[in-house]
Amino acid sequence: MTKITIKTLDDKCANDERFACVTAYDASFSKLISAAEIETLLVGDSLGNVIQGAKTTVPVTLEEMAYHMGCVSNGLVGHEHQPFLIADMPFMSYATTQLALESATVLMQAGAQMVKVEGGDWLLDSVQYLSERGVNICGHLGLTPQSVDSLGGFRMQGRQPEQAKVILEQAKSLQEAGARMLVLECIPTSLGKQITDTLDIPVIGIGAGPFTNSQVLVLYDLLGMSMGRRPRFVKDFLTGNTQGIIGALKAYHDAVISGSFPEKEHCFE
Ligand code: KIV
Repeated sequence: MTKITIKTLDDKCANDERFACVTAYDASFSKLISAAEIETLLVGDSLGNVIQGAKTTVPVTLEEMAYHMGCVSNGLVGHEHQPFLIADMPFMSYATTQLALESATVLMQAGAQMVKVEGGDWLLDSVQYLSERGVNICGHLGLTPQSVDSLGGFRMQGRQPEQAKVILEQAKSLQEAGARMLVLECIPTSLGKQITDTLDIPVIGIGAGPFTNSQVLVLYDLLGMSMGRRPRFVKDFLTGNTQGIIGALKAYHDAVISGSFPEKEHCFE
């Protein structure tokens, strides 16, 4: 059995080898992701959008996250390839340090090996508190969808040099507080590169350019299932693929590992 652990991912990062990440929310897709040998699987609160039909991730609850984490985890039982499992902590479930510990406990007991939190400086105490207690934390900076209302919409972050500097400093502080991984969303390629070059922990990008250690896409986006306006960073790997869903997942994996995805058209300058 190939079990991907945080050490596997740290080693890849140290050796300048890329790895892929994709979201999933149920057992059927977690089996397919395992079959495509994708290294990391994120049970994202994007399930609010793609499963529940909400406009944002804000309505998603901890109980719903734990339910979907459990479904994903059940789907992997007995499979040869075991991806590293990350779960999003939903809106306000980590507003205080104690709440963060209780919420992380629920998600880890449902099968998560790491929990992801959105935000910078205000989170540092919680990141330190949880990581000291053995919880793997993934930070999330740039466009943080849970704060969409205070950001004024789903828009690129870090274009202004002062804003870019703040994001870089927050990334360093999260690592220092104990975060073991970082997601960067919708930032200029140059900033994605600078942060990846500065940090020791693996950095996963989504609209953060080709230089991060990994890429993540929402599963339904990479399968071309999302209707309406398509974000710039999305690529449909299913249309035209004769091998179906597994073929699309493998094509995404191969493109991330080889560095052929993202292309310039998926990035922000
Ligand atoms: O919820 C999610 O799917 C995410 C990824 C898009 C990074 O946070």
